[in-house]
Amino acid sequence: MHLSQSQIQSGSRWRIPGRGRPKSRALAPEPDGVEPAAPRSLHACPMAATAAAGTGFAGGIAMLDDGWSLPDHGLPALDSLLISAELFITMFHNENHLGPPDRRLWHVRSEIEASGTYWHTPEELAFGARVAWRNSARCIGRLYWQSLQVRDRRAISAAPDIAAESVEHLREATNGGRIRPVITVFAPDAPGSPGPRIISSQFVRYAGYEAADGTVTGDPANADLTWLARGLGWPGGQPAGRFDILPLLVQEPGAPVTAHEIPADAVLEVPIEHPELAWFADLGLRWHAVPVISDMYLDIGGVRYPAAPFNGWYMCTEIGSRNFGDSGRYDQLPVIAARMGLSVASDRSLWKDRAMTELNLAVVHSFGKAGVTITDHHTESVRFLAHIEREERHGRECPADWTWIVPPAASSTTPVFHRYYQNFDQTPNFYRHPAPASRKEAGLHVLARHTGQLTG
Ligand code: ARG
Repeated sequence: MHLSQSQIQSGSRWRIPGRGRPKSRALAPEPDGVEPAAPRSLHACPMAATAAAGTGFAGGIAMLDDGWSLPDHGLPALDSLLISAELFITMFHNENHLGPPDRRLWHVRSEIEASGTYWHTPEELAFGARVAWRNSARCIGRLYWQSLQVRDRRAISAAPDIAAESVEHLREATNGGRIRPVITVFAPDAPGSPGPRIISSQFVRYAGYEAADGTVTGDPANADLTWLARGLGWPGGQPAGRFDILPLLVQEPGAPVTAHEIPADAVLEVPIEHPELAWFADLGLRWHAVPVISDMYLDIGGVRYPAAPFNGWYMCTEIGSRNFGDSGRYDQLPVIAARMGLSVASDRSLWKDRAMTELNLAVVHSFGKAGVTITDHHTESVRFLAHIEREERHGRECPADWTWIVPPAASSTTPVFHRYYQNFDQTPNFYRHPAPASRKEAGLHVLARHTGQLTG
C-alpha cells in the first residue's frame, strides 16, 4: 500500500528526535565484513597529503582565479571540497595501486570548478563506501569491511523508487537468512539540489504506540516515527501489536515526506525461544533478521550521500541486552526473571545479570535455529582485535570508540575490554544527519497544519 503523500512541509530536513531518552548505544556494532586492501597513508593534515601526492590539486587552490565563485557554494565550502576530494582520490589510487592520481585529480578539479561538485566513478563509490565502514569507530564488526556489496543507485531520488529499491536491498541482504552486508547509495547532494532522505532510522522498525498515560505498546524507541507515520495516514496495527512493522518514511528533495509499506514477505523475522526454558517462547518475542541503518549520510571525498542505507548482521547483545533488555525499550528482564523464579526484590540477587544471559542465549539460539546469520560478542571481540592487527600490518591505525566497541554483556570476559583505542574521525565515513528540533517543533506544527489530524 502506498500511503498518501504526506504533509510535511517540503524542505523540512528534520529527523526523529530522541526525546531526552539516554542516547543509547542502540546503534552499536555494525556489519561484519572482510579483508583490507593495499596500504595508504592518510595524513591528518590535508596539506601534508597534498605535498606528499605532489599534485597541487587542493594545494593549488590559492592559485584559483580571483572572484571565482559558484552559486550556492561559498569559497570555503569549495575549498574544503577540493581538499577532501584530493585526499580521497589519492587514497583510492594508493590503496588500489592505480598509479599516480594526477589525471583523475585534474578532471575532478575541473568538474568541481564548473559545477561545485563531482561524480565518483563506480569504483570510487564502492571503495569509498567500504572505507566508510572501515572508518566507523563504533563498529565492532569491521573485519569484513571489504565484503560490502555496493548498489549504485545514484540516479534515483524519487520517493517511490527509493522505497522500491530499499525493499530490493532488504531482499538481497536477507538472502534467505545468509545475510550479506549491503549498501545502496542514492542520489548525492549537489549545489542547489539536495539528495533524498530516508526518515526511518532503519528499514524495519517496530511501531511504538504511545498511550495518553505515556505507556508504550511496542518499541518505545520508535514512538516518534510511529506518531509521524500515523500522521501520514498509516492506520497502525488493528489492534496495535508489539511488533507491527512501520512503513518506510522517505523524503524526496523538495517534496513532503511519504510513507511506503514494506511487503511482509521482504521482512524476515525470527521468533525467540530458548534452548532449555520452554516457557520462553510464550513471551511472544521476535526480531527482524537484518539491521539496515537508513538515517545516516555517507561522506566520500567531500560528496555527501544523504540516503545511503547499509546493513551488516546482528550481534546477539544488540537485540538481547539492548532492544529487549533496556528498560526504555522492551524491558523484558523483569518478566524473564519472574519466569525464572528469581527474586527481583533486591539488585543483590543479580537477577538482571542472570535474566540477561538467558535472553542473549535465546536470541543467538533462535537465529541459529532459523538459519539466520548472527554473531555473539565473544566471537566478534576476537575478530575485531584481528581486524585492528591487520589494519596495523597495512600501516593504518584503526579508529575505535571503547564505549561502543565493548559489548553490553559480559564485558570483561571479552578481549576488547582490556585495552584502549585511538578514536579519531576520518572520512569516508557515515554520520548522523543533524539532529532535528523536537518532535513538537519539527513535525507537529507542520503535520497538524496540513492534516488537521494531529494535535500532539
Ligand atoms: N543496534 C542496532 C539494532 O539493534 C543495529 C545497529 C547496526 N548493527 C549491526 N550489527 N550492523 O537494531
